[in-house]
Amino acid sequence: MNCYSDTPLSKFLTPLKLFVSLKAESFWRWRNRENYLILGGHIYFQTLSAAVQLDLFSLLDEKGPLTEEEVAQALNLEKQPCTILLLGLTALKLLVKKSGHYKNSKFARAVYSRCSAKNMIDIVKWQHFINYKPMYHFYESLRANTNTGLKDIPGGDEPYLYGRLTHHPELEKIFQDAMHEISLRASENFATYVDLSASRFLIDVGGGDGTNIINLAKANPELRAAVFDSKTVCKIAEKNIAEKGFSSRLGAIQGDCFTTPFPQEADTILFCHFFTIWSLEENLQILKKAYDSLPSGGRAIIFNMMQHNDHTGPILAAMGSPYFLTLATGKGMLYTWDQYIERFKAAGFKDIKTQRLPSDHGVIIGTKP
Ligand SMILES: C[S@@+](CC[C@H](N)C(=O)[O-])C[C@H]1O[C@@H](n2cnc3c(N)ncnc32)[C@H](O)[C@@H]1O
Repeated sequence: MNCYSDTPLSKFLTPLKLFVSLKAESFWRWRNRENYLILGGHIYFQTLSAAVQLDLFSLLDEKGPLTEEEVAQALNLEKQPCTILLLGLTALKLLVKKSGHYKNSKFARAVYSRCSAKNMIDIVKWQHFINYKPMYHFYESLRANTNTGLKDIPGGDEPYLYGRLTHHPELEKIFQDAMHEISLRASENFATYVDLSASRFLIDVGGGDGTNIINLAKANPELRAAVFDSKTVCKIAEKNIAEKGFSSRLGAIQGDCFTTPFPQEADTILFCHFFTIWSLEENLQILKKAYDSLPSGGRAIIFNMMQHNDHTGPILAAMGSPYFLTLATGKGMLYTWDQYIERFKAAGFKDIKTQRLPSDHGVIIGTKP
């Protein structure tokens, strides 16, 4: 069937109309690119995750640019799946295709290749192996106001992700490696900003693998410090501390922030990426416990990503908060500066100081009079 009417005018108008609609559509797509990225977020994340698991970015960094056939052969993929993967990565601007050869974009080289010292590979693995399936239950969690996504992390009946991870050494390692990457970036700025010259002994509550106290010890040659965390995490921290040669000044203390007394000799109690786990009431409870345990002049310090006071962002706070509701504990989120400051005051701390830092992070310090 001929779809065109054969009058001379319509012969001219039809291609023109088609041209205009195609232009309008591509403008609309360009304007709404973010919306497509949201709509296909699960697919685009899996595209990235597959490339990371195949270590494609490191391959291209070392041996690229490569043709599709060369990539397929190196990754042991059939031709069509390889085409699908390369199409996704190129459309997402993680790869650049030129003269039939693929190479990493500048961004992909910086954050997804092993050759880059500050890559985010472990963060992608954390998102894939721990967070991805549980996040499917976000709607249920909103309704129930609890972490219904935890059912996807089997083993044990602990109500929080951290307890469940103790049954899965391989997942716990993935989790701590991701925290290490997050903290490595953020805690350099923190170590530069916070003056710890007056601190004799610092404990890092929920200190994880020790990345933060190792950075602090590098910047403060006199500082003694310890991670205060669960038994299995303390083992990971002790190993890291020993490998970095800090065992004479740093250590790990097994404890629970609610039930184990904080060591009396600690004059500085640090909470890095920790208060986001708990409800505001629990945060106040922990701050009061810290206040009671500290000597006069002792300090409590929060170091975290902060939410804007007017609840409009930043985007990383919007990304992290559903994770705390749906999976981690069902109680926390990324709180605002004012919410933390209020709790510091309610716990009795005075002389409260705040400092904005890069990566949407911030520090709040309170002193016990
Ligand atoms: C989000 S991670 C933060 C790790 C580290 N502070 C950082 O900045 O990378 C939370 C840590 O808190 C620990 N944790 C969870 N519940 C805890 C509790 N009740 N008492 C002490 N530590 C706890 C976890 O084992 C984990 O290492």
